[in-house]
Order: sequence, then C-alpha cells, then structure tokens
Amino acid sequence: MNRQSMVKVTSVIKEGEGMTTLRFQWERHISPGQFLMVWVPGVGEVPMSASYIYGAKGVTVKEVGEATRALASLRPGDSIGIRGPYGRGFDIPDGKVLLVGGGSGMAPLMAAADFIADPAKVDVLIGARTSSELIFVERARSASKEVHVSTDDGSSGKRGTVVELAVEHLAKARYRSVLGCGPERMLSALLDACEKAHVPSQMSLERYMKCGTGLCGSCAMDGLRVCADGPVFDGHILMQSKDFGRLKRDECGRHVKL
Ligand SMILES: Cc1cc2nc3c(=O)[nH]c(=O)nc-3n(C[C@H](O)[C@H](O)[C@H](O)COP(=O)(O)OP(=O)(O)OC[C@H]3O[C@@H](n4cnc5c(N)ncnc54)[C@H](O)[C@@H]3O)c2cc1C
Ligand code: FES
Repeated sequence: MNRQSMVKVTSVIKEGEGMTTLRFQWERHISPGQFLMVWVPGVGEVPMSASYIYGAKGVTVKEVGEATRALASLRPGDSIGIRGPYGRGFDIPDGKVLLVGGGSGMAPLMAAADFIADPAKVDVLIGARTSSELIFVERARSASKEVHVSTDDGSSGKRGTVVELAVEHLAKARYRSVLGCGPERMLSALLDACEKAHVPSQMSLERYMKCGTGLCGSCAMDGLRVCADGPVFDGHILMQSKDFGRLKRDECGRHVKL
C-alpha cells in the first residue's frame, strides 16, 4: 500500500472553473472516501480524495497552488505517482443518504454515490460560490433521486449556502445518514444542522498531510490522525473536537485559524 506506482493519465476532463479530473488505470481497490497520495514528478506529492473508484480511477483537482496547478496542466500519456489508498472512508448505511458537498468536496461524495449504485437511495446537494464552480451536477443527476444546487451569488440554483439547502431537506425527508465534504466552516454548520435534526452524519476532513500513513503526526487534530483515523469522521466524534471548525495546523505544525 505504501509503495508508489507510476501510472499514465488516460484522460483529463475540465469540470468547472479551475477544476480538473484526471483518470488513470490503477488496479487497487478503493473505498468511497479514501484518499491517494498523488506525486507530480519534479513538483511534489499531495493528498487527493478518489472521485472515481471503479474502472479507470480518478481524482478531481482544484487549482490552489504549485502541485495542483501542475496536476491540472497534465495531458493524457503523462505519468504521475500514486500511493494508497489511505484512511477510513464513508461507512455507507443501508437506507437513504443525503450527500452535501461544497466545491471540490463533491469528489469523494460522487465516489460514495457510485458505491451505493441505487439512485433511489441518494439525494445530492451541491454548493459553490458561483455557477462556473459547480461540479458533477450531471453525474449526480444520473446517480441520485434528487439533485439541488446552491450558489453564494445566486447565479445557479438557490442563492445561499448548501447548508441552508440541507436544513430544508432534513426537515422534509428522513435520512439514515448525511455525508458531507467541503470547506470546514461549511461542515461545522452542517454538523450543527444534522445534530438539530437528530440525523447521524459523517464528514470528510482535510489536514496538512505528509506521510499519509499515520506516522509523522502532521495531520494531528485533537489527538486524532486525520490520515489514519479519518479523513471521514462520525459527527459524534467531531462534536467532541476542540479543533473542528476552528483550528488546523500549518506545514510547520503550528495551530492556525481556519
Ligand atoms: C484527505 C484529503 C483529501 C483531499 N482531496 C482533495 C480533492 O479531492 N481535490 C482537491 O482539489 N484537493 C484535495 N485536497 C486538498 C489538496 O491536498 C491541497 O489543495 C493541495 O495539497 C495543495 O497543494 P498545492 O501545492 O497546489 O498548494 P500549496 O500552495 O502548497 O498549498 C495551498 C493550500 O493547500 C493546503 N495544502 C498544501 N499542501 C497540503 C498537504 N500536503 N496536505 C493537505 N493540505 C495541503 C494548505 O491549506 C495550503 O495552504 C485534499 C486534502 C486532504 C488532506
Ligand atoms: S500525514 Fe503523517 S500522520 Fe497523518
């Protein structure tokens, strides 16, 4: 699992503004919510949730810095290194689930929808700042019963946050679980909404990762290692966390505000 494989990129798909999916042949089994350490030769290695876990595997990259820009500029036939899969993914219950994603947070949620494989058991809420940043809307439509979108500026779907959409849905339907991924302040508000509605939740978190295997401690959060104990955590664990929604560690291990 810890050995890196070099794989060739088989396809590159532009999903939305600054968002790109890379597909590649890699024969390992990946559970929904697990992540890969992706190495761009000559640039560096970054953690990425798997957005496709069947057939050609895939990651969906939001360009924020050097490594993600280098990933997004790759072409079919280019090589990348892959380690993993790592971490604890989503525990998919038997029953209806609500998937709530913000921005690139849709990546592991679509892998969860593919795993469930029964559109009648899935509703999807997708949020972004503006319509050009919405991703996987069509993919979500074919994998779920209902899809709703929200944008901060009202350019597509409901104006407002995806958590506001989630509050409406939690009031009118019964879900066995809510699966969330996106900016941590959004996840913190989503957790509050799930607790108020008495619906179990699971949130996929991000922390600064180096080893990805539970050894270096750079992803520590309240005594938990996000790479090994997560990245998906049950809502009741996050309710006890002092850091969740407030603090993370930078690349030097210092606490910084989210
Ligand atoms: C479990 C997990 C899953 C992720 N899944 C996705 C995904 O599906 N799609 C996606 O676009 N992004 C994902 N990320 C975030 C992605 O890893 C960072 O955006 C990326 O590492 C930034 O690297 P950079 O060189 O482009 O930017 P930099 O300029 O180096 O950093 C920009 C910001 O990205 C974060 N970051 C940088 N390096 C790391 C690192 N090694 N580990 C964690 N965060 C880092 C920091 O907050 C930093 O401020 C995930 C992160 C984690 C921990
Ligand atoms: S990244 Fe090293 S312990 Fe989590």
